[in-house]
Amino acid sequence: MGLEPEMSFDQQAFRQALGQFPTGVCVVTCSAGSQQLGMTISSFNCLSLEPPLILFSIDRKAVSLPLWEKAAGYAVNVLAENQKDISNRFAKSRSNKWEGAKFAHGQFGAPLLPGVAAVFECIRKAKYTAGDHILFIAEVRSFNSSIDRMPLVFSKGRYAALESTEFVAPLWPLDIHY
Ligand SMILES: Cc1cc2nc3c(=O)[nH]c(=O)nc-3n(C[C@H](O)[C@H](O)[C@H](O)COP(=O)(O)O)c2cc1C
Repeated sequence: MGLEPEMSFDQQAFRQALGQFPTGVCVVTCSAGSQQLGMTISSFNCLSLEPPLILFSIDRKAVSLPLWEKAAGYAVNVLAENQKDISNRFAKSRSNKWEGAKFAHGQFGAPLLPGVAAVFECIRKAKYTAGDHILFIAEVRSFNSSIDRMPLVFSKGRYAALESTEFVAPLWPLDIHY
């Protein structure tokens, strides 16, 4: 198969093509009253540096969506390469995702998971319906990262890990910055 555009929208082929774009894996969290919410997402991305905005999208079929739409703040927990079990736990709909889970309370009530590669604490800025998903845009108010931890990767519908041997401490600013 070459790189010609697909002429018809075969759903499976579309998903397969999207899987050629690797992402990290995050558990986005928020709280609704005394209830904690958490969801594994790969749709996290940076949107703006000034102001610091991030985005993620949630399937309109997600059971917990009405609660996400009400939340004023979120924490995006970027999973480390040894946290596949956490990713699987927070991807299971209608399960008790928080049973026995360790977490701290973030500044906007959103749970913070231990051992993650990075965390971004955000407040909601905007929300748009976009096809079968809701796009959330949030402003980062604080963040933390453990640069010694490698991030978990998701590609081709599977988890993957980065080759740590390819990594050396970067000199800032990066010469490949766009
Ligand atoms: C690696 C991975 C990435 C995912 N990314 C997303 C995502 O970006 N958006 C989304 O709505 N669901 C995503 N999911 C599925 C949700 O985690 C799952 O449907 C959700 O936890 C269901 O929540 P519910 O209990 O509210 O129904 C992903 C699952 C996995 C395993």
